[in-house]
Amino acid sequence: MEALITLLPGDGIGPEVTSAAHRVLKEVAQRYGHSFEYKVELIGGAAIDVCGDPLPDATVASCQRSDAVLLGAVGGPKWSDPNAAVRPEQGLLKIRSVLGLFANLRPVSVIDDLIPASPLRAELLTGVDMIVVRELTGGIYFGEKTRSETSASDLCTYHTHEVERIVRVAAQLASARRGKLCSVDKANVLETSRLWRDVTDRLIRDEFPELELETLLVDAAAMHLLKRPRDFDVIVTENMFGDILTDEASMLVGSLGMLPSASIGAGSRGLYEPIHGSAPDIAGRDIANPCGSIASAAMLLRYSLGLNDEASAVETAITRAIASGARTADLVAADESSITTSGMTDLIINEIS
Ligand code: IPM
Ligand code: MN
Repeated sequence: MEALITLLPGDGIGPEVTSAAHRVLKEVAQRYGHSFEYKVELIGGAAIDVCGDPLPDATVASCQRSDAVLLGAVGGPKWSDPNAAVRPEQGLLKIRSVLGLFANLRPVSVIDDLIPASPLRAELLTGVDMIVVRELTGGIYFGEKTRSETSASDLCTYHTHEVERIVRVAAQLASARRGKLCSVDKANVLETSRLWRDVTDRLIRDEFPELELETLLVDAAAMHLLKRPRDFDVIVTENMFGDILTDEASMLVGSLGMLPSASIGAGSRGLYEPIHGSAPDIAGRDIANPCGSIASAAMLLRYSLGLNDEASAVETAITRAIASGARTADLVAADESSITTSGMTDLIINEIS
């Protein structure tokens, strides 16, 4: 098949991990006889440096023309002045919103060979396989902000239709998996969460009565994720809770560097990015873990291009490379040896069949 993919490397380790995923996509295209065309565009701090705008019009136009977008990471100390008029993160939030990508899928699957890399006990981790569905274009991230000398505010708003559409995505995923949906909110305190809970209860009762629905308050969910991670199948939650809980959940897998994500909307166009940040402290040293970005490319193949076999081949290649002992620095103890970003990518590419 033919596809146009926009690459948005961004800042920090973004360019390194995106180039790793790009190499993997080229290998897939060659092996399976596809023709992928790539356009590299600016976002985040890199875009601010060139044109003062974290999301230039040319970037938006390229994304809108593309079948899928692969993004690295944005942000860094260079652009973190609290008084700055523009921030790299604004570019990321805006592209998610402009493309209508309201559902952010974050799979958390433990790879047995990586269990020693997790700070948690092995017996808790075997068989952990969940997907967190994070609402991505609403809530406190997008509400009105105010700031005076002595006070600040961030408005959190949710509309019924926003809750309905994200819960439907999560419920459909749960139906195709183990039939368990856990909705996470803070309904004992927040009005938006009380709306979220009402809408979720009603929608699941009316449209997905066969699903097992559990509801957890976010503080308790943070605890249960570590206490009984195997119990979770699909978790659905609002924007900020999903951001926080998935960084926590990455410790089940062993490293933040492992986790991919897919941001999808009403159509097939999606944006794919590892859940980690730009890690400026290790940028440019060829030591970042490319697995989160490569696994995001696999999700791109699956969700935007419908190439399920190719997606599985990439995921299996990651698992095999890990099984063969390949470890970047984030996956080993300080005194153990590790391989580079490009070395890890070579090994994964070798395992694609
Ligand atoms: C993420 C990141 C972003 C977010 C930041 C960089 C704006 O943490 O994708 O998880 O909070 O959504
Ligand atoms: Mn995050």
